[in-house]
Amino acid sequence: MSQILVTGGAGYIGSHTCVELLESGYDVVVVDNLCNSSEESLRRVEQITGKQVTFYKLDIADRAGMETVFQNHEIQAVIHFAGLKAVGESVQKPMLYYQNNITGTLVLCEVMQKYGCKNLVFSSSATVYGDPASVPIREDFPLGPVTNPYGRTKLMQEEIFRDFHVADPEWNIILLRYFNPIGAHKSGLIGEDPNGIPNNLVPYVAKVAAGKLPHINVFGNDYPTPDGTGVRDYIHVVDLAKGHICAVRKLEEKPGVVPYNLGTGKGYSVLDVIHNYEEACGKKLAYVIGPRRAGDIAQCYADPSLAKEELGWEAQYGIREMCADSWNWQSKNPDGYKSI
Ligand code: NAD
Ligand code: UFG
Repeated sequence: MSQILVTGGAGYIGSHTCVELLESGYDVVVVDNLCNSSEESLRRVEQITGKQVTFYKLDIADRAGMETVFQNHEIQAVIHFAGLKAVGESVQKPMLYYQNNITGTLVLCEVMQKYGCKNLVFSSSATVYGDPASVPIREDFPLGPVTNPYGRTKLMQEEIFRDFHVADPEWNIILLRYFNPIGAHKSGLIGEDPNGIPNNLVPYVAKVAAGKLPHINVFGNDYPTPDGTGVRDYIHVVDLAKGHICAVRKLEEKPGVVPYNLGTGKGYSVLDVIHNYEEACGKKLAYVIGPRRAGDIAQCYADPSLAKEELGWEAQYGIREMCADSWNWQSKNPDGYKSI
């Protein structure tokens, strides 16, 4: 039976996608080296779905290990989440980021090619658009310049994939450009579990709501946006996960290399997020306005119409549900997967 290989499947977006794959009837094989995740997330995926996940604790750059996976399973398509994603860390450790994200992807693709699997769904990012000239952002907008090594690994990988297809048109690769995934599965069993102090807004807000951090630092209120704080297109992680099922189905049409934005098309400011989270957790959240964060842009939100037309995908959840589901996960798992 055909199976879907999910690299990075124990991580935040990967675990939610495993749930949707299993619930859509796919067999799931996960490869993850657990450098930023816990195997517990996969046990929870099994608990939610009542189905089993085959797990290999493996680095995607481990060629022999990856070959074993392809020998043991008939892989129909790969959803490739595995990668390092912390923008600030990538500035400090560019070699680590290029090695992990670029070399890892090259080894994965070489092994895929060797075993005749040329169907890939790739986790790209809205960061490939750099600072867009206007919003909403369409897929045909110019790419880059990108301000950090993490973002450059995404843009480079997109270009590498286009080269693969030119050389060998049998490659079909869907580039999913995520906007800002937040929230958690309704069950509260899986969610985002960052190590240390979170870099991203919503995990940080969640820790303040839980009383683990004193206040939110708002990075600038002098942007040319309605309330002066940065505007982003937050998307519920379950909606995002469902987009991957649509992409896997689209691969059957042999589309070549094609990008799709996965966003809601709506922008919310930092203060909008804080106020929605206050409603979700039922208390006031302290915040302090500080300076802008280097590399941040004023606003970023998607035109998601191409994904609607060609993938039949559209986000269902709004910001209230995103915040409510984030809080449900945070309050049920105060220390993430370490809470057990
Ligand atoms: P995550 O860190 O929770 O998941 C990534 C997973 O990949 C982790 O489980 C980690 O252990 C694993 N991994 C990393 N390097 C590996 C390697 N060499 N071999 C095997 N496993 C490895 O992150 P996430 O938020 O779930 O993101 C998934 C993907 O989506 C990443 O590629 C990320 O860059 C991309 N993305 C995320 C966001 C976001 O805001 N979360 C936005 C745009 C794009
Ligand atoms: N922000 C704060 N305080 C914080 C954290 C963030 O005010 O403590 C603000 C930021 O300035 C920005 C907004 O909240 O205006 C969202 O910031 P995040 O760090 O949550 O998300 P980014 O939009 O900066 O980055 C995300 C992903 C990147 C990806 C990028 C573009 O983390 O991986 O979207 O897609 F590259």
